[in-house]
Amino acid sequence: MNKELTPEEQELLEAARTVRGNAHCPESGYAVGAALRDDAGRVHVGVNVENASYGLTVCAERNAVGAMAASGGRRILQVAVVTRDGGSPCGACRQVLMEFAPDDPSGLVILCHAADSGKTERHTMADLLPHAFRLHR
Ligand code: THU
Repeated sequence: MNKELTPEEQELLEAARTVRGNAHCPESGYAVGAALRDDAGRVHVGVNVENASYGLTVCAERNAVGAMAASGGRRILQVAVVTRDGGSPCGACRQVLMEFAPDDPSGLVILCHAADSGKTERHTMADLLPHAFRLHR
């Protein structure tokens, strides 16, 4: 990674690592934990929740966004995702995260951590979803 993790980023990563233990992934065995920090400094978490009717599965990132929205949060500054291999958010989750990004989406940092290797990659929302669809400009 290009730059050391800040204490805030480390805390967020720890929250994602911890909540990952609650992933409901009987179909794939691929556990995902997500934690995000809103602009009030609050941390919200989510895990992937799979279903025997596969298409009903919801990713960890979108469940974390749901938790934030339910508690009134509307702006995300940091996201941490923990998987076994450091996989980054899927396309659908990128679009959903973008909805709550700052006006300049490079202000939203996304950390992807691989539990197996211990490696972390830092991205920005702007890097992960260039030319995003926006209805309201
Ligand atoms: N998954 C996530 O939770 N987030 C992503 O961004 C990609 C995939 C979940 C969905 C499914 O439960 C499992 O990982 C394997 O695709």
